[in-house]
Amino acid sequence: MEKSLGFESFKMLALGIYPEDHHRFKQIKALLEYLEKTDFPNQPASIQYHLNIPGGLVAHSIGVYNSMEILSDVYGLKDEQELYRSALLISLFHDLCKFDMYRTGTRNRKDEKTGKWEAYQVYMMDEKRLPLGHGAKSVFLLQKYITDLTNDEALSIIWHMAGYTEGSKEFALSSDMALAHTQSRLIGFLQVADMTATFITEPMLKL
Ligand SMILES: [Fe+2]
Ligand SMILES: [Fe+2]
Repeated sequence: MEKSLGFESFKMLALGIYPEDHHRFKQIKALLEYLEKTDFPNQPASIQYHLNIPGGLVAHSIGVYNSMEILSDVYGLKDEQELYRSALLISLFHDLCKFDMYRTGTRNRKDEKTGKWEAYQVYMMDEKRLPLGHGAKSVFLLQKYITDLTNDEALSIIWHMAGYTEGSKEFALSSDMALAHTQSRLIGFLQVADMTATFITEPMLKL
């Protein structure tokens, strides 16, 4: 499989989070080796919204990492080493759920000038994906490799979609998210980093 160029940068960032003698270094290495054999390196970040291009998911994850670096600097997270490392880890892997979510397909459209119908390529949801829910699936997959995920890490990934989480308009889910925010400030960091990358820095990329 041809890998997106961004995946080499992604790997470098992921392997730089922990020193080589930290037990998580080996776990991240194993996860990267696995992801390299899947569609992850070339997946888009979405079907029709942000970065719906090959390698878009990797570019988005790096964008969230970069936003998290800035937030960590501004709000003093870098002074708390373990929490800061957690912040970088969840930035890169919060959307792990998307690694098998999309496939390419074709749709037809009418050419306005010629009046002829033509096929064009689009991304579609892959029916074979594991429907665990967005954040929950990322935690489930990440935990297969990072076997000691902390509450901060799991809560942040589960709730990173904030208002975009399925069913978040329902009171029960909203109150769960509000409760989660009182238990981990990392959730706010990841939500803001994700939104910053999606709505501010990605539209500025010349791709
Ligand atoms: Fe997401
Ligand atoms: Fe995201």
